[in-house]
Parts: sequence; C-alpha cells; structure tokens
Amino acid sequence: MNYTLKVAEIRKETEDTVTLCFKQPGLKKIKYIAGQYLTLIFRINGRRYIRPYSFSSCPGVDTFLEITVKRVENGLISNHINDVVQVGDSIEVMPPMGDFIFEEGHGFKDVYFWGVGSGITPLLSIIKYILSEKTEVKVHLNYGNRSHESTIFKNQIDQLKERYGDRLTIRHFHTKLVIDEANPYLIQGRIDQDKALKILSDQSEHNGVAHYICGPAGLKESVKNAVQAKFGNLDHVYSEDFELVKDPKDFEDVHTQNVSLNFQGEKYTVEVVKGKSILEAALSADIELPYSCQTGNCSTCKGSMIIGEAKMIGLTKVRDDLSANEYLLCCTHPLTDNVHIEI
Ligand SMILES: Cc1cc2nc3c(=O)[nH]c(=O)nc-3n(C[C@H](O)[C@H](O)[C@H](O)COP(=O)(O)OP(=O)(O)OC[C@H]3O[C@@H](n4cnc5c(N)ncnc54)[C@H](O)[C@@H]3O)c2cc1C
Ligand code: FES
Repeated sequence: MNYTLKVAEIRKETEDTVTLCFKQPGLKKIKYIAGQYLTLIFRINGRRYIRPYSFSSCPGVDTFLEITVKRVENGLISNHINDVVQVGDSIEVMPPMGDFIFEEGHGFKDVYFWGVGSGITPLLSIIKYILSEKTEVKVHLNYGNRSHESTIFKNQIDQLKERYGDRLTIRHFHTKLVIDEANPYLIQGRIDQDKALKILSDQSEHNGVAHYICGPAGLKESVKNAVQAKFGNLDHVYSEDFELVKDPKDFEDVHTQNVSLNFQGEKYTVEVVKGKSILEAALSADIELPYSCQTGNCSTCKGSMIIGEAKMIGLTKVRDDLSANEYLLCCTHPLTDNVHIEI
C-alpha cells in the first residue's frame, strides 16, 4: 500500500542539493530502518516517474522522514525536486525498502563508511543510528567531495563530531582543495586504493570491522581492493548502488528483439533495443509496469518468463531467491526472438 506524504520543510544543503522533510502520515506511521530508501512517484505531463531516494534521516533520532536529492545533469526528477517541489506539496511514496542497513549481531567494534557526493545519504542515516544506539561501536567516515562548499551535510556532520567526539573520526577528501597542512583529516584528491589502505593501517585484524560503501563504481572498487589487500577477504563489506553499472561486454549476445508482455490481463509487444532493459522499453511505450530501484535490488519489477531466453545484466548481488523462470525486468535483456513474459 502506498502513502501520501506532505512536504513540511525543504532545506537547501548545497548549491545543487535539497533535503525534503516529510511529516509522518496522521494515521499509519511509516516504519523504516536506517539506510533504507523511500520510492517517490510523480506524474508529470501525464507520465508516471518513479525514483528511489535513501533516507538521510534516522528513526528515533529525526522527527521528519527526510530524503536528500542531488541534481543529476539532465535528470528529470532530481531537477524537478530541486526546482519545482514546494513546502505543502503532497507526494505519493511506496513503503520503505532496501537491505543496506546496519547488520546486527556481528559484534562490530569499528565501522568504516566510504561515500562520495550524494552517496552520503544512506551512510549518514546509518551513522546516526550507530552513534545513538550502539555506544560500543566506533565510526570512521571517509567522505569525498569537490570542496567544503559542495559537501552535503557538512554542518550536520560537524555537529555529530562535537557530540560524539572520539567515537566518530571524519576524513574529508577534496578534489579542489586549499591545503591545510595542520589538518590531517582533510586530504587532497579522491578516495583511491592507496589512501584507503593507509586509513586501514590502524586496524590489525578484520574481526569486528565492517565497511559500508555508497558512491560511484570506482569508489567501491578502490575500497574493496584495499580491504582485500589488507585483510585477504571481503567479509562484512556492504554497498548500495544508485545506478546500474553495465559492462558493454555483457551485451555481445544481446540483439534488438520484440518481446511480448502480459500485464494486468492485457497483451503488449514492445521493441527492446539492444542496451535497453525490458522495463525501460515497456516504460518508453507507456506501459506502466511496477518498479522502484532499477538496480536489480528490490524485486518490484519481477516477471515470469513463459517462453524464450533472456539474461540479467548489471546485478551486483546474488539473487538466489529468484526461481529459474523469474527475471528482474529492470536488468533483463532478451536473447531470443520469442520472449514472452507475464507480470
Ligand atoms: C537505492 C537507491 C537510492 C538512491 N538514493 C539517492 C539519494 O539519496 N540521493 C540522490 O540524489 N539520488 C539517489 N538515488 C538516485 C535517484 O533514484 C535517481 O536515479 C537520480 O535522482 C536521477 O534521477 P533523474 O530522474 O533526475 O534522472 P533520469 O532522468 O532518470 O536520468 C538522466 C540521466 O542521468 C543518468 N543518471 C541517473 N541516475 C544517476 C546518478 N545517480 N548519478 C549520475 N547519473 C545518473 C542516467 O543514466 C541518465 O542518462 C538513489 C538510487 C537508488 C537505486
Ligand atoms: S526495479 Fe528494483 S529490482 Fe527492478
């Protein structure tokens, strides 16, 4: 069941980022776990657009439900939210989803957060949760931006540092940096494998350590390489992807094909151009299939293959919960010319 939320406040975080603060609904409160996301549904010029945004708020810490949205160049909804949405507007949302949350029961003592730009949103939510609820855990935030001015939540993070002192270590990485030799926590350049390794040099063993990563593919790779090099395994490394990363090599056996769909009792045929997923092709043809994350994470777009062959491209997590004929259409590409799917 979807909810309708009212925008109670809008905070400008940086030149290109705003936080929307929603009031909890009057009757049935929305329950969420720090690190999950909220999926917003817009209708613009008669067309439906659905986009997930991680909570930047934390239950029990923040009163409002908050999401923080950075403009994407030519992006439809991120710019709509920054330019058009106003206090008092009502927005339809799906129930919270996502498994990028603090993993309980592992006895973590040190949790490293690695984020770049808007990737800070779910990290901040989980950091607030740990600092307020897990008093035995130390938090190490490594956060990359162009400069102080483009650093989302700079003030909120400074306030957390003041409040939680030694339990929170923050390293800012700035690509456009005015160097301050006296401050070892302000580092020039991107978070790369060597810098990540240097940060991890304090840790003698991997037991009790977790890593949470949210940012571009290069960040994830650098951090994973550093963790692997230092500890010889990738245990307790968790990541959230805002975008599906596709390797062109995976498309070698994919060709443009017509695909038939059975949805809500109607039959459709759509042309799925090489490189586009079946979901993207259906949405372009104004077939309003259900979806949310578009990164192969949530299962909202699941369909059943009746005949034909297809493959999923870009999945970053093993999805052994899907049966042999179930496909996530946001990352599914046809391999044969007889694909028929029921949704
Ligand atoms: C689980 C999850 C959580 C997310 N949380 C946040 C969040 O907290 N804050 C936030 O700002 N965004 C977040 N996103 C991304 C968000 O859902 C949208 O994808 C983003 O706002 C772009 O939407 P758009 O309609 O403006 O762009 P579109 O019109 O959909 O896309 C325009 C172009 O931009 C490219 N593009 C799409 N997304 C991105 C991106 N993230 N970075 C760079 N290029 C992109 C597309 O390939 C396309 O070419 C999250 C995504 C996921 C899957
Ligand atoms: S939309 Fe989330 S798995 Fe496809």
